[in-house]
Amino acid sequence: MVNQSDYVVIKALENGVNVIGLTRGTDTRFHHSEKLDAGEVMIAQFTEHTSAIKVRGRAEIWTNVGQLKSGDDE
Ligand code: TRP
Repeated sequence: MVNQSDYVVIKALENGVNVIGLTRGTDTRFHHSEKLDAGEVMIAQFTEHTSAIKVRGRAEIWTNVGQLKSGDDE
């Protein structure tokens, strides 16, 4: 049984931020890409299908291990 309780919150700080879901299992590949514009928020979970999440662009990210910013700082 996969733990589906962990949420990841991503708030885009610029237009065109990509939130990419990577597959769980032996084959690690992109399975979904979501484009966020500035101010948009995505709330996602790790699931049976998603073992990793990649963020491209400037965004604020909250996870159970802390908060950080992705992308260029200035
Ligand atoms: N169908 C995907 C899943 O159930 C949806 C999803 C969940 C997702 N978390 C994600 C897509 C994170 C991209 C990023 O796993």
